[in-house]
Amino acid sequence: MQPTKAPQPAATETKTRRPKGSLRAFLAAWADDPRRVGAIAPSSPKLAAAMASFVESSNQVVVELGAGTGPVTRALLDEGIDPERLVAIEHSPRLAQKLHEQFPNVKVIQGDAGEMRRYLGDHVGRVGAVVSSLPLRSLPPQTVAKIVNEIEHVLAPDGVVIQFTYDPRVGRRFDEAFERIGQRWVWNNLPPARVDVFRRRTA
Ligand SMILES: C[S@@+](CC[C@H](N)C(=O)[O-])C[C@H]1O[C@@H](n2cnc3c(N)ncnc32)[C@H](O)[C@@H]1O
Repeated sequence: MQPTKAPQPAATETKTRRPKGSLRAFLAAWADDPRRVGAIAPSSPKLAAAMASFVESSNQVVVELGAGTGPVTRALLDEGIDPERLVAIEHSPRLAQKLHEQFPNVKVIQGDAGEMRRYLGDHVGRVGAVVSSLPLRSLPPQTVAKIVNEIEHVLAPDGVVIQFTYDPRVGRRFDEAFERIGQRWVWNNLPPARVDVFRRRTA
């Protein structure tokens, strides 16, 4: 899907409140496919900001997985990530359409994170950060394995992977594939969540 070139709304317009209709869109997507959405509410601005704070603004592309209603997309832009270098992949057609309307300068792809390489073309192997809100604990293990494999291919040698979890006991697939280099709990979220930061394992 090609983004249309239009001015972004000022960061302050959306920083403190959810965009109109986003909760309804989230609930509709949840009703369509609860396991795939895997959360009871959109991520809070605090959780989104915590995730974005681990991304360095550089010339590298940033890929957001499971962008949903867009709180993390917003936080990444507020953090100074160039919208032209941000690719948001969202499976739900209705949420992808909303994202496209809300962030016209961001490249929004309605698709499957497990097919990432197909969407990224020349950026494969050069992605500076993968920022994921995917519900790893409710997705089938083979789906998670495929996504992890795609991330390993698209990530730059010095790239980072950022993922949040509500349940630190499960979803250890990222721990097996990558080296954990940071984490932060965010209590101001429903439910509280932990942000994990990973990089490629050094041999
Ligand atoms: C926890 S929810 C959304 C979180 C988002 N930060 C928000 O607050 O709206 C997870 C999102 O991942 C999307 N998703 C699940 N599996 C996916 C996949 N394989 N590829 C792309 N998106 C996926 C769901 O449609 C859902 O929007």
